[in-house]
Amino acid sequence: MENTPFQRIILTGAAGRLGKALRPGLRALCETLVLSDRIELDEAPAAGEEFIPCELADHPSVSHLLEGADLVVHMGGISQECSFDALLHSNLIGQFNLYDNALAHGVKRIVLASTNHVTGFYPVEQLVTPHMPVRPDSLYAISKCYGETLARFFHDRHGLESVCLRIGNCSPRPLSLRALSCWLSHADLCELVRCAALTPHAGFAIVYGTSANAATWWDGDDAARIGYRPHDSSEIFRAELLATAGNQAKCVHQGGNPLNVDYRQPATWNNRRLSR
Ligand SMILES: NC(=O)c1ccc[n+]([C@@H]2O[C@H](COP(=O)([O-])OP(=O)(O)OC[C@H]3O[C@@H](n4cnc5c(N)ncnc54)[C@H](O)[C@@H]3O)[C@@H](O)[C@H]2O)c1
Repeated sequence: MENTPFQRIILTGAAGRLGKALRPGLRALCETLVLSDRIELDEAPAAGEEFIPCELADHPSVSHLLEGADLVVHMGGISQECSFDALLHSNLIGQFNLYDNALAHGVKRIVLASTNHVTGFYPVEQLVTPHMPVRPDSLYAISKCYGETLARFFHDRHGLESVCLRIGNCSPRPLSLRALSCWLSHADLCELVRCAALTPHAGFAIVYGTSANAATWWDGDDAARIGYRPHDSSEIFRAELLATAGNQAKCVHQGGNPLNVDYRQPATWNNRRLSR
């Protein structure tokens, strides 16, 4: 492919939900899209793609993965409440290995999947900006706060750029009343990551990953600075959601119902996942 902005983009978590959604758009931006995960991909690599299996907690494997990379889109890691050990392994050690090796290999920028749950304990009545203190609603969210802090440190200390995406509820359509305020369509996710990759001077940025929903809890982030303008809106699903899910419990906290998910009780991790 000629005249692509990047030579080699690394996509971690490529076998996951968002990794799959991002694949075609990222492939168009580079000579080679390196797909990576610790599990197999559903769909074999196509022309212009390579698969490099990698356990993020293994420093030498991450070093091998990042050879020759000019951009990393980091979607890999634990994506819901889980045991501290699992989060330690994939999210804390994994994210350190990513940043440490990115620096060693001269990677210019990381687009980092964070989560809206880093401010999940704010009440739904409050408008939240990235300048306000984090209020994580789970151990999972704490691991993402660590990721953002690591990103900030590597930028301040070494100039390695990061765009931290505090992703809302990313799915083909909003599935809960809560999602009306935090839905991110797959098309807008792809546009958000494209903007985060291409903006000339990202520095350190935090963007809440949402579509152009009529209702929102967030403001004052770096969306406009990186040129992100979402197109979709949850509003077209409102009437249908009210009809089918109108009896759902009203959220007190922006993170949904974090009190129903207990980091000490594995049974709650899957049965009552954190609201995405
Ligand atoms: N889907 C959403 O709505 C949403 C919302 C907020 C934040 N996020 C964040 O976006 C990212 C992607 O989310 P997703 O929904 O695609 O998650 P997912 O769970 O579907 O995919 C994550 C992928 O990471 C891989 N992974 C986990 N630990 C790993 C390790 N130690 N080494 C290598 N690979 C590992 C898994 O195998 C999986 O394929 C995650 O970081 C998640 O926290 C997603």
